[in-house]
Amino acid sequence: MYQVQFSPRGQRIATPGNETLSQVAARGEVIIPHACGKTGRCSTCRVQILAGHSSCSPRTEKERAIAHKMRFSPDVRLACQTVVNGDVVVKQLVQDDEDVHFSSLYIKNSPPDMFGVEKHMFILFADIRGFTAFAEKFLPYDIIYVLNRYFHAMGEVIKRHGGHIDNYMGDALLALFEADDPREGAKRAVHAALEMLDTVKKVIQPHLNNFLGKNFSIGIGLHYGLVVAGAIGAFADKRATVIGDAVNFASRVETANKEAGTEFLISEETYDLVRNKIAVNRSIHVSIKGKTGKHSLFEVIGLLEEARAKKGRFWAPQYDLLPELHL
Ligand code: FES
Repeated sequence: MYQVQFSPRGQRIATPGNETLSQVAARGEVIIPHACGKTGRCSTCRVQILAGHSSCSPRTEKERAIAHKMRFSPDVRLACQTVVNGDVVVKQLVQDDEDVHFSSLYIKNSPPDMFGVEKHMFILFADIRGFTAFAEKFLPYDIIYVLNRYFHAMGEVIKRHGGHIDNYMGDALLALFEADDPREGAKRAVHAALEMLDTVKKVIQPHLNNFLGKNFSIGIGLHYGLVVAGAIGAFADKRATVIGDAVNFASRVETANKEAGTEFLISEETYDLVRNKIAVNRSIHVSIKGKTGKHSLFEVIGLLEEARAKKGRFWAPQYDLLPELHL
């Protein structure tokens, strides 16, 4: 038998070997947080190996990726990915009294699927242009009425195309579309966005003009990427949402509309899936703070078949290239 010692509390737990540090800890009721369900996708189970490095297995591929992203030193390991075969002394890194309390509640109250699931999704952000200035001119109750009417109309469109609104942030909304076939999903998400723009012009704007003598326009950004879908919030009040680089990127795509003077921009990942179905007016190269490389965004102005019906059967899509934007 080998022995694993957990600092700072000093518990010593025996192991026959071929167990992960998380498995050893669990047998001795040492709490090591595990926000991803011990699947090598988070860093909450990180520990520091104080002694016995050679008794620990090499990093798994998943652990290598996380260690690289988080810039872990070689002695910082993921407990759920580290198999021990010898005596080891371990220091818990994500652990204070509040952590112990929270982790025991978290682990007890979270069914496995609550840890989050990685999946590819279409992420759509829509934002009302100049909303702050708009809201300042009118009564708060009127603004709530207008916003709810707008959100309701957008929700109907999104639902009709197989998506759902995941979140509201002030005057902005985040909608998600999932599909087994990404091309099909891209088509639905693009159709939804175009119909949202149309609905704002044909339904919301005339209503606003009657009601407040004013109207507004919206900007939409659409991206396709990998997200972690999970539950966030206090235990009694958790709600499902998505997190990840792709969500932040989709938000940047939407923001780029302001700089580019466009209404609807899609990322290259989305464009690749629907390029034969859409009419594009312009392409924009952007560099995004905190991200390396340049990214191409495409301004979608309609569906190709509709554009061809208007412009002639053999009309071919062409688009202008705008100068680079820095977001
Ligand atoms: S619990 Fe998430 S990587 Fe170990």
